[in-house]
Amino acid sequence: MASSDQPRAQWLGRWGFMLAATGSAVGLGNIWKFPYMTGEYGGGAFVLVYLICILAVGVPVMMAEIAFGRRGRGSPIDAFRRMATESGRSPVWSLLGWMSMLAGFMILSFYVVVAGWSFSYLWKTLSGGLNAGSVEALAAVFDANNASPWNLGFWSTLVTLATMVIVGKGVQEGIEKNVRWMMPGLVLMLVLLIGFGAFSGGFGEALAFLFSFNAGSLSSAGMLAALGHAFFTLSLAAGAILTYGSYLPKSASIGRTTLAVALADTVVALMAGLAIFPVIFANGMDPASGPGLIFMSLPVAFQAMPLGTLFEVLFFVMLSMAALTSSISMVEATVSWLCDSKGFTRRSAAWSTGIVLWLVSTAAMLSFNLGADWTLAGRTFFDWLDYLTSRWMMPLGGLGTVILAGFLLDKHVMRDELDLSPTLYTLWLLMARYVSPLGILVIFADQLALFTVSFAQHWPWLLMILVAMIAVGEFLSPRLRTSLAPR
Ligand code: PHE
Repeated sequence: MASSDQPRAQWLGRWGFMLAATGSAVGLGNIWKFPYMTGEYGGGAFVLVYLICILAVGVPVMMAEIAFGRRGRGSPIDAFRRMATESGRSPVWSLLGWMSMLAGFMILSFYVVVAGWSFSYLWKTLSGGLNAGSVEALAAVFDANNASPWNLGFWSTLVTLATMVIVGKGVQEGIEKNVRWMMPGLVLMLVLLIGFGAFSGGFGEALAFLFSFNAGSLSSAGMLAALGHAFFTLSLAAGAILTYGSYLPKSASIGRTTLAVALADTVVALMAGLAIFPVIFANGMDPASGPGLIFMSLPVAFQAMPLGTLFEVLFFVMLSMAALTSSISMVEATVSWLCDSKGFTRRSAAWSTGIVLWLVSTAAMLSFNLGADWTLAGRTFFDWLDYLTSRWMMPLGGLGTVILAGFLLDKHVMRDELDLSPTLYTLWLLMARYVSPLGILVIFADQLALFTVSFAQHWPWLLMILVAMIAVGEFLSPRLRTSLAPR
């Protein structure tokens, strides 16, 4: 049964966890989802809220998650249970582990469809199927690619297979080596595209669109989307980072690693925005064109540059690799749970997960053709998977994580695990106890139409609520002050 007393596998090199966590974080979320969501929610204001969420919510949650993984030594379910019971709290907290594992699985079910797009575009580039010079023609190519369930199903099945083969082999092999060359390569391709965009005539407009922060203009749905995307892009509350953290040696610094991963992830997303929007504006395309945005725009840029086909091939290779290093991380939680708690071998765990995944992802894939009309409240199955995970499950999971870490664990636990200087630890505690929960709750409340927040107008109120929360929290359980006391 539970093999918790056996030593757990660990990352190989000093950089192992960094590379793997970056590989998990940087993926389709950065290059496919971030630009199209920015387009849909109107640009700068969305970007601003997203950046604030990364810093104020994402970073503290990620630190807690890695610490939970490392100290809880196991899959999210086991780790949450052990962390809670170690401090005399209820084992019911393991529900957070269940939810994150489920979220990871649900995300993967639609992620393989999008990764399938990337693989099929690689194939199209190689076989000359993308030489359609205009945005309109490319939109037609995108639609045609989706129209056939056989075609789309082939590519998402391929991605499912590839993911399971890699996961079946184990964590150390493959991931670390791959990310080492894929990341610089991806950045290089983005630099090329940005360089091209700078001369394409749409660059000024793109800059203005992305960075003219008009925070008053964002809808509450947009704010929830930005919060959810911060979780999605950092792979939080989906089992991935926690499980990777469980292979982290005691000696590694959680704070530094988290900052590095978050920074790399944010830079890649902003670069993707800078690469894509010039093309969109130079070609008079609607930024709110939805999930097909990058597939309808980037090929135009590649075709107009010298050696474009070569670069396009490299780009889709890199994008597909980035997708795989993320998809692997989404099943790792389930697989490690099956192995640790249910006695599966790694291979049998990977294949059994793969079969269920294939069924659910096939249903998600059908949302683009046969099942396009199977909607509930206007959302297809694909949309529901995305919506439920990003907007609700992950922020709720994050909320539970920081509340457990900030208020309920024994005082020394997070302090030992994070091993920060007293000032930095206090800063983390302040964020985890008050700033992140307030941010998540305000956005939830706003979305539930309990009240309407325009941060620009109401910041004095929010500040007052924050101060009141700190006062009450410190009165009930004074930890911030004692965190500065010598150990
Ligand atoms: N962070 C990944 C991306 O941006 C997606 C992901 C979500 C990975 C959740 C793991 C868990 O593409």
